[in-house]
Formats: sequence, C-alpha cells, structure tokens
Amino acid sequence: MCESRHPLIMKIVIVIISVFSSSDKMLPMKRVLILVVPLAWLLAACADREEPEPAEPGAEAPRVVVYTSRQPYLIEPLFARFTEETGIQVEFTSDNEASLIERLAAEGARSPADVFVTVDAGNLWFAAERGILAPLESETLREAIPAELRDPDDQWFGLSVRARSIVYHRDRVEREELSTYEDLADPRWQGRLCLRTSRKVYNQSLVAMLIHHHGEQRAEEIVSGWVANLATNPYASDTQTIEAVAAGQCDVAIVNTYYLARLVADDPNYPVAVFWANQGTTGTHVNVSGAAITRHAPRPIRARALIEWLASDAAQQEFAQRNLEFPANPAIEADPLVAAWGEFRGDETNLVVAGQRQSEAVRLMDRAGYR
Ligand SMILES: [Fe+2]
Repeated sequence: MCESRHPLIMKIVIVIISVFSSSDKMLPMKRVLILVVPLAWLLAACADREEPEPAEPGAEAPRVVVYTSRQPYLIEPLFARFTEETGIQVEFTSDNEASLIERLAAEGARSPADVFVTVDAGNLWFAAERGILAPLESETLREAIPAELRDPDDQWFGLSVRARSIVYHRDRVEREELSTYEDLADPRWQGRLCLRTSRKVYNQSLVAMLIHHHGEQRAEEIVSGWVANLATNPYASDTQTIEAVAAGQCDVAIVNTYYLARLVADDPNYPVAVFWANQGTTGTHVNVSGAAITRHAPRPIRARALIEWLASDAAQQEFAQRNLEFPANPAIEADPLVAAWGEFRGDETNLVVAGQRQSEAVRLMDRAGYR
C-alpha cells in the first residue's frame, strides 16, 4: 500500500511547492494544513506496513486468521508453537480446498482470512488464478524456499515437499525392473499396476508434468499404457492403492511417499518399498503443500510473520516430520524414516506448470480412459 502511493507522493510534493511559491495571500495556517494533512496521511499509510497491527477491539490477544485444507492434526501443533513464540493467536477454519477457495472469492474484501494453506501446486495455482491471493515479497522466503517450489509471481510458497514416486511389492518385483513412470506403460507391466483415481489433483499434477516434458501426444500414449496395465479399477485413496500392492492385487503403484511412510511407521516389515522414479531422466515428480497471503488479508503483517515463521528452520523440520514429507528448505533434514530411503533428485520444473497444464491433463486422462 505504501509503495503504491509513490506516484501520489510526487504529486503532493508538486502541489506543496506550488502553494509555497505562489504569490497570493494565503493564510499561513491554511498553508500549514496543506502541508501537514497529506504528509500525515502518507505516514499513516506507510506506518501500517512497518508496525505490528494494533490489537483489535474486543480481542484478548493479537490474532491471525487462517483458512486451511490440511488435516488439523498436522497443522494445529505448528500453529500452537507459533503462538508460543510470538504471542499471536492463530484462528483457523478447516475445509476442503475447493470450498475454501470459493468462500474466499465470495467473501471478497469482507473476508476475515489472512492466510490460505493447502496442498498441491495445482490448488495453489488455481487460487492465484481465482484472484484470491496477494503477492508477498519476502527475502526470507526467497532464501528459504527453492525457486521451483514457489510461485514466480510470489503469490504462494511451498512449505513442505511431497514426492509422488513408484512403490513396489518387495517379493514380487526386483528393483532392477523399475526405472521411470513412462516405463510403467510398457506391456510387461500388464495386470500389475495400481493407480489412484484421475480425479485427485495429485495425479493431474503428475500428468501435467508429463505433458510438459513429452508433449501431449507422447503423454497420452504413456497414460493409455498405464490404463492398459491396470490390475484393478483406480482406487479412491493413495493408502488403498498401497494396500492393494501389499495384498498382492498388483505389484507396482504411483503414490505420495508419506502414505507409505505412515504404514511403514506402524509396521517396519511392511512388504511395500519406495523406488525413486526417473533418476536418470526428469527426476521424481515432487509437489508441495504451501501457504499464501489472501488478497484482502485484514492483518497482512501477521500473515507475513506466520508464513515466514513456517519457513524457518525449526518450523520446517516439524512441518515436514508431522506428515513424513520433506522440508521445502533443502538445508533441513527429513525424518529418519524418510531419510533412510536415500537421496533422490526431484523434478526441478517450476510447479506453476502443474497448474497451467491442469485442465489439459484432465482432458488427456479422460481421453485415455483413466477414470
Ligand atoms: Fe495427501
């Protein structure tokens, strides 16, 4: 807001100079008012960018309001820690991302929300397209979060990384048989592949990246090959998909690794393992969960404080560990269970592509018969 008034500052300076250089007999008091009023207004506008927002009437403590599609048990402990460290209360509303995006759009300037937290770059990109986010210029975030994990226009920031890779049954597949997502379209995997439904944004983002790397025609051949190799109809969740592999209904699947990590945490002898896909080619498909300032955030300073805090070293570790994901900040270590799977190279394509090609991906999957 302060920055946007720079052209006005110039105009006001010109007016003031012309008033003082004019030869009419304007009363000194009037001249003083012409000088003081606009300056006070400008100072007020700039001050509310630099000082903490004042406490709200009736509120017991300073607060920030978050709309989040993340499961409360994953995010609530982090908010509690932020409150402990800063004294700022976090009030949050949980719902699915589509409802929250439409709610923010409908509420417009009356929205109480300061921060939007959700999963998948496809969702974050759509929120930006829908016009409900605001850019946040932050050196802190630029330093902590690699460029490919945040919006090039600073409208959203990845805070945890999830890898969508290949998993396989230890007794039914040799690791040497595995290589790439593309290879799972080969007829030798016929009747051996399990997938989650194409309606999940995770798969839409994966296919969007395939289109980016190979063009639409080749991507469609790959997805059609997957469909031809399916052992069963696609599952509703990643966990069901992994359980089908464990039960021997299929041998390989493509899932987010944190779902497998949860199963392995409960049973160290779980018969399904991770294979890092596409290490010799495009890198394993990665995505993020992330956060953004809402367009009409009533408390933008606290919103910034919360998002920057979530990117800080201590928060990054916990943010990733709670859901057995990977920290977005590469300097921070993953949970030991996840780190034991070894290093991998993630696809370094900017995740904005996942959103830009999302509708193409949906149409392609439909044509390929992927339900
Ligand atoms: Fe998930």
